[in-house]
Amino acid sequence: MTNNEYGRHATSMRTHLCGDLRTGDIGTTVSVCGWVARRREHGEHLAFVDLRDHSGIIQCVIDNSVDVRSEYVIRITGVVRARPEGTTNLNVATGEVEVGECIVEVLRSADPPPFAVDERADGVDENVRLQHRYLDLRRQRMQRNLRVRASVNSAVREAMERQGFVEVETPMLVPSTPEGAREFLVPSRKSPGSFYALPQSPQLFKQLLMVGGTDRYYQIARCLRDEDLRADRQYEFMQLDMEMSFVTQDDVLAAVGEAVLSAAEAVLGERPPEIERITWHEAMNRFGVDKPDLRFGMELVDVTDVFSQTEFKAFAGAEAIKAIVVPNAASEYGRNQLDRLTDRAKSIGAKGLVWLKVIDGGFDSPVAKFISESEGTELRAATSASAGDLVLIVADNWMTTCEVLGTLRNDIGRPPVHQGPYRYVWVVEFPLFVGVDQATGRPKPGHHPFTRPHADDVDLIESDPLSVRSIAYDLVLNGWELGSGSIRIHEPELQRRVFAALGISQEEADRKFGFFLRPFDYGAPPHGGFAFGLDRLTAILAGEENIREVIAYPKTQSGADLMTNSPLEVDIAILSELGIRTLPKVD
Ligand code: AMO
Ligand code: AMP
Repeated sequence: MTNNEYGRHATSMRTHLCGDLRTGDIGTTVSVCGWVARRREHGEHLAFVDLRDHSGIIQCVIDNSVDVRSEYVIRITGVVRARPEGTTNLNVATGEVEVGECIVEVLRSADPPPFAVDERADGVDENVRLQHRYLDLRRQRMQRNLRVRASVNSAVREAMERQGFVEVETPMLVPSTPEGAREFLVPSRKSPGSFYALPQSPQLFKQLLMVGGTDRYYQIARCLRDEDLRADRQYEFMQLDMEMSFVTQDDVLAAVGEAVLSAAEAVLGERPPEIERITWHEAMNRFGVDKPDLRFGMELVDVTDVFSQTEFKAFAGAEAIKAIVVPNAASEYGRNQLDRLTDRAKSIGAKGLVWLKVIDGGFDSPVAKFISESEGTELRAATSASAGDLVLIVADNWMTTCEVLGTLRNDIGRPPVHQGPYRYVWVVEFPLFVGVDQATGRPKPGHHPFTRPHADDVDLIESDPLSVRSIAYDLVLNGWELGSGSIRIHEPELQRRVFAALGISQEEADRKFGFFLRPFDYGAPPHGGFAFGLDRLTAILAGEENIREVIAYPKTQSGADLMTNSPLEVDIAILSELGIRTLPKVD
């Protein structure tokens, strides 16, 4: 690309980008290149051509004898002039000008496209867009998204460099790692029957970089996980991955916060306020989820005390009774909808759901008769519910009560993820273990097994593992988990205790992660880190609800790449060279 007097987008073939022309350019002879977005005949001799490149669209007036059609690639040289009185279009940035006296060069003709290459494609079956992704990418929306992504990447990179982080690339062919997701395996030709895994994340390598004295590492890292795909999940995704030595949690949160806030500022033009922090326990207690969406109210209210003497058998003796209030919803929710809410609550583990429509002087509900007058008064005071509101109550153990109401709160009140305002929150002090593995009877790791237990709780690892807090933290934006991290265990003795609690024997640990654990005997510094999903952050900042929209070549929900038709079967000869025999397909 040449840099001439017209600016950094000028090349030997063009002087300007289509979307850059303004009234200030009137009278200038320009050359613009791009695709024909639209052609309209105008009178006997003229035609309007809307010429498109990634920057926008410019109207050109050409001789109608020139044969150019939709998506032809052309170059136009002409003079910028004001559009005639009454024909300006203030909806487009270039709408006050047009290019006239045009010389048109057809650089390449084009077949008619399978869909209109403009905002109308938003309504086209996404599979058709993905099949012809190169055409989809020509659209303003997609070009803008790619550019948002690039500015997120570059702002993040700059923020990490500014803070003294060193970019290190870690391998793509790695051993299996214990991070929880199913892995993609790569067969080894040299040792048939052996496999590499593609990295779920650079976790082990980045920790060993700390053992190796790197001090502050970062990488814009490609990660691969064979998971069920959803709006916020792809097989391949990008992390801003980082790790630092001689730090506490505060240092990591400050460094990551700087990167995330710088990216938001680069895209939105305004730096978000400092990110608030809440503990995992508070998140569960108030929002019923570990990725709370702070954009709306309807917080969970503890009403266990209100019903401490209750005669109502559904509530009696419950460890926790909690309520949420859906404002002004009493008349909106009919019997069917309430039944559906109850079914939903049961499907996620509740024994039932009490709903109360608040009316003057009482409640309208099949269970109103079980609620005494004083309980009713206290309930209204505790929840601040007033006439016209709908109150939903669950009684169960604390965890189930929180989870069920947290899910209902999101179902009922949560706006789409990409709708502002943007509410970032750190969730800290995650439990070290979550739940118990049914098969082994052992606790399961909350984050990964290298996460450091909270100093005050280390003594409970053996006696009461489920109550041990960890120094693990998540970053949440509008109810999406943006990223996770932790301070790590750097002492082999402590690591062995955590493995033992997880039911992993010393022998198994050595066999599976010996390459990782042994180095810690040579002096590992205290260290910790974090990784956040660049696809997720970019999607939200770009105003998109699905990360596919900010990935140039994503996979479909079923894991296919429709443009290249992969995955594909391969020749038996190739398989046998790899020592692989496939089983017949089962449908
Ligand atoms: P974790 O597994 O929580 O932590 O991943 C960190 C972040 O990566 C993003 N992410 C994904 N994005 C798109 N598609 C996926 N399938 C996908 N899976 C994860 C999310 C998530 O929050 N090594 C640890 C971090 C650490 O401890 O330093 C890790 O990878 O935004
Ligand atoms: P039951 O006594 O099981 O017939 O339930 C009476 C009402 O209380 C029904 O509306 C149930 O959905 C509701 N209910 C039952 N158990 C619970 C519970 N643990 N928490 C909230 N509501 C419940």
